Amino acid sequence: MPFQGDIGSSTRVRKSAFELTSSEVDKLRQAFAALRKLSVNDPADPRGWLQQANVHCWNCGGGEASVENIHGNYWFLPWHRAYLYFFEKILGKLVGDPDLALPYWDWDTRGRNVMPPPYVIPGNESNPLFDRYRGVAPWQAMPAWATSAEEMKRLLSLRDWASLMGGPAGSRRPGALEFGTHNRVHQWITDPRGRANCGVQDMGIFSTAGQDPIFFAHHANVDRLWEVWRNLGGEQRLPADAEFRQRTWTFYDENKRWVSISMDQILDNAGSLRYEYSRPSLVGRMGHGVAVSHPLTGAVTPAPSKSVAKAPGAAQLLTSEPQTVSAPVLVSAEIALFGAAPPSLEPTVRRLHVDGVALPPGGSTTVRVFVNLPDADERTPPSGPNYIGAFTVIPHHGSGHADVTRQDVAFELSAETEQVVPGAGAILVRLIPLAGEDMRPLGLTLEYQKVYVATE
Ligand code: C2O
Repeated sequence: MPFQGDIGSSTRVRKSAFELTSSEVDKLRQAFAALRKLSVNDPADPRGWLQQANVHCWNCGGGEASVENIHGNYWFLPWHRAYLYFFEKILGKLVGDPDLALPYWDWDTRGRNVMPPPYVIPGNESNPLFDRYRGVAPWQAMPAWATSAEEMKRLLSLRDWASLMGGPAGSRRPGALEFGTHNRVHQWITDPRGRANCGVQDMGIFSTAGQDPIFFAHHANVDRLWEVWRNLGGEQRLPADAEFRQRTWTFYDENKRWVSISMDQILDNAGSLRYEYSRPSLVGRMGHGVAVSHPLTGAVTPAPSKSVAKAPGAAQLLTSEPQTVSAPVLVSAEIALFGAAPPSLEPTVRRLHVDGVALPPGGSTTVRVFVNLPDADERTPPSGPNYIGAFTVIPHHGSGHADVTRQDVAFELSAETEQVVPGAGAILVRLIPLAGEDMRPLGLTLEYQKVYVATE
């Protein structure tokens, strides 16, 4: 049946997981306990813990071939928003509290790049928010660069929706909000050192990630940051193509009804979904000092057509050593010739692309990218105009399964980086595989196909 919207209910306010009162923590724990119990007592109930985790697994490549992957393209943000909505309503139903709201883990707030205490203390199964498949210790901090103010500013300053949200349906092109800190947090929770470059369950592999309660606090923050970014730029910060606008998904709701929710409803979190985010109160850095200094002019970028096939490039190998490659700087007219993504009608931004990234099945790693800094290595500070950003690859399945294959990573050039990338010719791109804070992974074999800068 069609989703009706949460008409008549009050607005649920999602708070930072660091700011919950003790009765809010108790309520959340009761809800997760009930969710886990339902999974044991009635494994067929679609609202139970494992069934809910498997909804995520099914939609990220664990379903039939006909199920479109909700990672690696612009479905990522709206699908996870809808998934969290129904999950939150189920939690509320199980404890008889329709106002129960998911907390968010604001790893971008200073000092909160550690797991929120209610999820790790006590660190055993008496705590329904605990998960034994985690590699981090309580109070262990994530590498600062992954969630730094500079990193958040880089993210929230992206002008084009495709840079932040990902490429259109059918592409294998995650957006920066996905391939950056989102993936990094998944990897870090289970494997903070990341040296062996293989994904570790639960959070470190998409098919099992929904089994860890922290998943939902992590994704609430991703959803919140999407909202912060949208509010900086208005409606033009959304894809306008019909395929996006007309998309619906189906979920089981809190009453076990199979309901279909539309994109319009998903985009209307305040009205249709009836939830909002309260600002982190400790330091209130929600805006990250980002001014809307260079809004996109003109129309929304049209979605590139899917039908233009890319010429396969010869695979190149990135091992544990940093590597320098020469990359052409293409103007619009050259892009199709080069076999790259076709440009939009009115080129608006420049991006550095690393196309055709693939790891062996189950593989996971982080790669940091600089331009025109051929001596940079894993100890070079990730800042300044030559620093482009970092991407993390998370496997969809464990090592026994074939994985979803290649993806394309694209970084929109910041105003600062624009100064060091010429208008034509070539640049040197430095690719630095990274484990932990400043180590090299062991035995890495990452393939990629093309590196270039394109105006699009
Ligand atoms: Cu569907 Cu954080 O993953």
